[in-house]
Amino acid sequence: MDSYRNRLEEVQLRMRGEGIDYLLIAPSANLLYLTGIEEQITERLTLLAIPASGKSTFLLPAFEAARFANHQELFDLRVWEETDDPYKALKAIFDPAPPTTVGVEDTCWARFLLGLQEVLPMSRFITAGAVLHPLRERKRPEELDRLRAVSRSADEAFTRLISSELVGLSELEVSRRLADLLLESGSETVGFATVASGPHSASPHHTMGNRRISKGDALLFDFGGRIGGYYADVTRTVAVGGLPEGFEEVYGIVREAQQAAVERVEPGVPAGEVDAAAREVIAGAGYGEHFSHRVGHGVGLEIHEPPYLRGDSDQPLEPGMTFSVEPGIYLPGRFGVRIEDTVLVTREGGERLNHCSRELVILP
Ligand code: CO
Repeated sequence: MDSYRNRLEEVQLRMRGEGIDYLLIAPSANLLYLTGIEEQITERLTLLAIPASGKSTFLLPAFEAARFANHQELFDLRVWEETDDPYKALKAIFDPAPPTTVGVEDTCWARFLLGLQEVLPMSRFITAGAVLHPLRERKRPEELDRLRAVSRSADEAFTRLISSELVGLSELEVSRRLADLLLESGSETVGFATVASGPHSASPHHTMGNRRISKGDALLFDFGGRIGGYYADVTRTVAVGGLPEGFEEVYGIVREAQQAAVERVEPGVPAGEVDAAAREVIAGAGYGEHFSHRVGHGVGLEIHEPPYLRGDSDQPLEPGMTFSVEPGIYLPGRFGVRIEDTVLVTREGGERLNHCSRELVILP
């Protein structure tokens, strides 16, 4: 609870600095970050109301309240019964004066925001992320422990996966095997286990199906489990039963691009330069048009979170940031290659959290 209290206090300090009177945090990664509470957002209004100073209030359905009785250190509870108007209960939190500026959870449903705007017609609404993301971007030691553990688990799962026979299995069957291996290697839950085979690997976000793996396929795995709320995010690409034509060359370029991008990571360097480091290698080899996405995204309590490493970003990297570095080359109708590690910014530079092999692997 201590670390959550510290986080709430830090948020309040920022709110005062930026003139925000209240944050309203619906169930989300932000709520998890601030309180340790992981809830699904549902049709019943549930919000943590954080004032710029003083104690927070958790507004929630009455029948849920017992589960949070041991959180009194962090917030007071205010409940609404099934037949109550929850917005009335919410409005009472702000008595006597409605807040001037309210930061609303970025991922809060539109229906809730519209309801809030109706009961707070004079308030100005902004996104809460503006205050929260700068905090969440720099991981604390206890967060890094989890990120390291979950990254290790993903590495182990991959190493075990490629030591088994995969020819003849469908993408979905290999995905289930990968998911099982994530759990066996210490992940508490499976975040995602995407398998793209053959020409499917040329789609950066492939939807898996029943295509069977055969010799001569490229095989792309994008996967990660979760520990203590934190995700791993790794991609590896292998060949099955021999090399598809052109695969070895493309693999070498992607690997070099990924290495160049990781080497560019250093505190103070603009995020866009990491993207540029990878793009230079890929464009220099003549494949620029086939690297169709940004080089990376923050990884933490969400699989995609700030900072985003796009070519146009001048956001300076800071120690404690964790993000993916994942250049790729996608050749439609043939294959795609992507190599992705989660990388931590240290005072010295970039430290990979993933250590499973990046060598060119040909499965039997
Ligand atoms: Co990723």
